[in-house]
Amino acid sequence: MSSISFDRATGYYDATRGYPPGVAERVGEAIVAAAGATAATRFLELGIGTGRIAFPLIVRGYPYAGIDISEPMMAQLRAKLAAYAVAHPDQPPPQADLRVGDSTQLPYPDASFDVVLSVHVLHLIPNWRAALDEALRVLTPEGVYLNGNDDAVTLGSHQTVQRTWFAILKRLGYDTGALSMAGYATWNEIDQYLQARGLATDVIRPVTWPTSETPRQALEFITQRLWSRTWVIPDDIFTASAQQLTAEVTARYGDQIDTPEARERQFVLLRARKGA
Ligand SMILES: C[S@@+](CC[C@H](N)C(=O)[O-])C[C@H]1O[C@@H](n2cnc3c(N)ncnc32)[C@H](O)[C@@H]1O
Repeated sequence: MSSISFDRATGYYDATRGYPPGVAERVGEAIVAAAGATAATRFLELGIGTGRIAFPLIVRGYPYAGIDISEPMMAQLRAKLAAYAVAHPDQPPPQADLRVGDSTQLPYPDASFDVVLSVHVLHLIPNWRAALDEALRVLTPEGVYLNGNDDAVTLGSHQTVQRTWFAILKRLGYDTGALSMAGYATWNEIDQYLQARGLATDVIRPVTWPTSETPRQALEFITQRLWSRTWVIPDDIFTASAQQLTAEVTARYGDQIDTPEARERQFVLLRARKGA
């Protein structure tokens, strides 16, 4: 098993995963507060992607490094930073140390960062324990590791559609153990591993925001293979599952399929302090 690169998601990642206006800035402030960061705090983000999390922190001037196995994802961040520099000629151009590389083999010296951050990444890395070992190696003795996630507070058609798809895959004989990526990290496993390594952990839910989605959008998140879980399935099985899912979801929601559902989402952080 190898890590899952987001090369193929580059063109639609921000459109499908981006935060509503103002939320990225609130998430950035929450990260600063959770880390107790000062202007001199050195950040490293694993799986930095298009900079959805990093961008507000980089433009605020924090010393920021990011690593990703996908160069095309980071090219999006470089373009955003270049556009910011053009739009703000009165400010120093934003700087970031962006490198193509694998989080399980970090190209940085021991104890070179005050904060290591990962958001929606560890579940994509089979050898996630090696990534955590590396994160702890490059953290200072007083450093903070933050693992973030966007979660649904209120459930709706998104979860219903996903569960329906899982059931269809099982009926088609597909081993959904592979789909849920057995061996890849869960939140609890990450927490337990960090505690076993001697870190004190806690969970913070600092930011919530309203959102909306129609059942059709939830359906298309799967049928258009926008979700990384859909990428690991052989094409023939995926195509059959998508056809059946479309039929079941269309029948279930009927004329409500394009009606937006109001929902709430939250940004959750698992914080692990090395020196506590
Ligand atoms: C779901 S995206 C999250 C990007 C960003 N953290 C965010 O929250 O928007 C996951 C990113 O992790 C990268 N990735 C996956 N495995 C990796 C690894 N072993 N080392 C570094 N990056 C990795 C993918 O290429 C992708 O850009």
